[in-house]
Amino acid sequence: MSNRRTFLKSSLAVAAGFAVGHITPVSAGSACSYPKGIVYTRQCPGKWSGKTGGHVPNVKVEGDTVTITTTHGMSEEHYIVRHTIVSKCGKVLGEKTFKPSDAQAKSVFDLPDTGSKYAWDTTNLYATSFCNKHDLWVAEFEV
Ligand SMILES: [Fe+2]
Repeated sequence: MSNRRTFLKSSLAVAAGFAVGHITPVSAGSACSYPKGIVYTRQCPGKWSGKTGGHVPNVKVEGDTVTITTTHGMSEEHYIVRHTIVSKCGKVLGEKTFKPSDAQAKSVFDLPDTGSKYAWDTTNLYATSFCNKHDLWVAEFEV
């Protein structure tokens, strides 16, 4: 019971942190700066070592348009569920949810017109890709 309580407290703390933007990489730029076992990256695939190729979001920036692709198969049993673009302070700038029947995990976002290209905070953003079997993957990029 104690373990379950501890797990729930930890999960809620992590969820709350993400919701309000309090969890940031411990030391940006280091190889493994995200919470281990929760967020996976090309440099830190953790238990999903060998799965980076199909899961790390690939980002292409052209002007104010950002295209995210994940080279992962799409089937009823195993597919990419969602892509997002998030600012360093936790503002979600774009999100797309996929269906298993979608041909590919590709999303195209126009960065919001805020009067200033960088009004959301910085030019450094996160792209996320969530697999129904292999969890949450993040790649940082700049616009
Ligand atoms: Fe997967």
